[in-house]
Amino acid sequence: MEESLQTILSAYEGKQEEIIPILQKVQETYSYIPEYSMSDIARFTGVSESQVYGVATFYAQFRFTPRGKKHCMVCRGTACHVNGASRILEEIEEAIGIKEGETSADLEYSLETVACIGACSLAPAVMVNNTVEAKLDPKKVRKLFGREI
Ligand code: FES
Repeated sequence: MEESLQTILSAYEGKQEEIIPILQKVQETYSYIPEYSMSDIARFTGVSESQVYGVATFYAQFRFTPRGKKHCMVCRGTACHVNGASRILEEIEEAIGIKEGETSADLEYSLETVACIGACSLAPAVMVNNTVEAKLDPKKVRKLFGREI
């Protein structure tokens, strides 16, 4: 069962320096930082909501939209880039109907680009949840996302 925000906060003392660890724990629990959590974190740590927001948006590690059941990370590292990663991203966007940084309304998919995922010899590569999809081409992408014609 998902922990409530109050349960998460109860593990901390309410110090300002705990804002980042709290945000990390919230994201670990919910897969993103829900907007409503900002005011509770602000109250708990004695800072303004905009300060919490400022900290959260400063770090690229925090996301503000939920992840889909299938979270797709398209590698944009050098090896993947030279092997057509941008075409792969376009194909995926078309296949699942969302753009980079978005989550589908049914929460089935979310899509983001990331730096090297450590599978350079398999470029262009995409990680779907914990599985690396290797040496992709448009046909493989359509097959992978069930849109093969
Ligand atoms: S550059 Fe894409 S896996 Fe390394």
